[in-house]
Parts: sequence; structure tokens; C-alpha cells
Amino acid sequence: MQIHQFESGLHGRVALITGAAVGNGSAFCERLAEEGASIAIVDIADASATVTAVRQITDRVVAYRGDLTMPETVRQIVGQVVADFGRIDVLVHNVGLYEEEPFELLTFEQWKRMLTVCLDSLFLVTHAVVPIMKRNTFGRIIALSSDTVWLGTPYLVHYVTAKSAIIGFVRSLAAEVGQYGITVNAVTVGLTATQDPTDRPMNRALLKDILPQQCIHRADEPHDIANVVAFLAMPAASIITGQAINVDGGVARH
Ligand SMILES: NC(=O)c1ccc[n+]([C@@H]2O[C@H](COP(=O)([O-])OP(=O)(O)OC[C@H]3O[C@@H](n4cnc5c(N)ncnc54)[C@H](O)[C@@H]3O)[C@@H](O)[C@H]2O)c1
Repeated sequence: MQIHQFESGLHGRVALITGAAVGNGSAFCERLAEEGASIAIVDIADASATVTAVRQITDRVVAYRGDLTMPETVRQIVGQVVADFGRIDVLVHNVGLYEEEPFELLTFEQWKRMLTVCLDSLFLVTHAVVPIMKRNTFGRIIALSSDTVWLGTPYLVHYVTAKSAIIGFVRSLAAEVGQYGITVNAVTVGLTATQDPTDRPMNRALLKDILPQQCIHRADEPHDIANVVAFLAMPAASIITGQAINVDGGVARH
């Protein structure tokens, strides 16, 4: 029996990571850089802290600033990334918005804002990047969702709706672009200690409830998610597509 060598590493690859000014996105940039990828960061906020962190690993990092819900902005930024780096092999779509609201208090404006930030950005960036990946017959699209889609967590109807739609998006798109060597997956993330949770009253309360529900009784850290994102980005993951991989310490046994 022939055992295939595990094809690891992202040397020569270019990764575009959205929503990477802080938190999980910043960890994804560092982890993909460790694997050898060049890093393009896009965020509506200043991402200089992420750039500084990635520069400890590689000089091949550029941050672009813009609102990824705006079609013209997305077109310009993706064009600039290709002008600067020559290609895009990996898209990690991490832009998100978190907001709790009881359903009866949820306004139409809050509903629309959540869907716009989470889904319009996903559509626009992926739409701009797929033709580039198709030309190279290689692509890895990874979209960040949430374990609340399996748990049906209350007070998050707009958030859970948007994060559920991401799973429909990856399932359908995976079937269209697989023939071009492009995989499309979602990662459903549990409550992650993206900053000291004891500094955030909401997270302190949530962690108190959630940790006993996990099979692994420690907080999810950004590097836990980053390891999964890095694996999905690699050539070795070429047969995994149209999936939602749950990373939450086992709260949802999806
Ligand atoms: N942190 C958690 O506990 C947790 C749990 C489940 C899922 N997630 C998901 O993981 C991802 C990252 O989580 P996080 O806590 O690091 O997120 P975060 O909210 O801290 O970061 C999201 C980033 O997106 C950027 N952004 C927002 N709107 C934008 C826009 N219109 N254009 C460009 N950039 C925009 C923000 O500036 C920010 O840097 C999100 O998609 C989130 O929904 C996080």
C-alpha cells in the first residue's frame, strides 16, 4: 500500500484574511505566515497591530483598509492585493459582528446591519476572488461561522440567521467550484477568548455557563481556531469541501 506524503505548508501561497485587525483574524494571519504564506489583511479598522505581529514571522505582509460591504471598495482592494502579490490562493473570511438582542426588541435596522456585515461582505469578497483562484486552479475559501448555529442560542436571531446562511453558502459554492481545485468550507467557532475574558463582563458570564458544557474544560483560544483554518488552507486538505467544521471544545457535538 502506498502511503501519500502529508503535503503541508503554504510556501509561495498568498492568503487574504478579512476582519483581521483584532482577535481570531490576527491569530489566523500569524498562523498562515508561520506556514510560509504571504499575508494580505483587510479590515475596516486599523490593522497595524496585526501587521506588527506578522512582521515577527515574515516581511510579506500588507494591510488594506476598507468597508467590505461596499462593492467598489472590495473591487479596488482585491485588485490591489493581486497587483501587490500576484495571486490569491487562500481567502479566510472572518469579518463579523456580534450583538445580543431579545427578538421582540430587535429592530429591522439591527437585522439588516447584521446580514449586511456578515453576508454582503462574504458575497462580495468571494465573488471577487473566485475568478483569480480559478485561473490558478487552486483555492481555499474558509468562512467563519459560529457554533450557535447548532445550539440555537437565544437572543441572537439575527446573528444565528446570518451565521447559518454562511453554511448554505459554502455548501452550494463548493459544488460549483470544486472542478477548479477550489475548496469552500466554514468553521463554526465557539466562544473564544480573543482577549482576556475576565475584562469583559458579558464573556465572564458566558464562559461561566459554557465551560462546564464543553467536553474539554478550557476556553477556546484563537490559536485553536487558527490551527483548523491553517489545515483547511493547505494543499493536503484538497478533498475536504462543502463542510462546516465545529471547533468549540465539544459543546455542540455536530
Ligand atoms: N470571538 C468569539 O467568541 C466568536 C465566537 C463565534 C464566532 N466568532 C466569529 O469569528 C470571527 C472573528 O471573531 P472575533 O471575535 O475575532 O471578531 P471581532 O468582531 O472581534 O472582529 C471582526 C473584525 O471584522 C472587522 N469588520 C467588521 N465589519 C467590517 C466591514 N464592514 N468591513 C471590513 N471589516 C469589518 C472588525 O473591524 C473586526 O476587526 C467572526 O466572524 C465571529 O463572528 C467569534
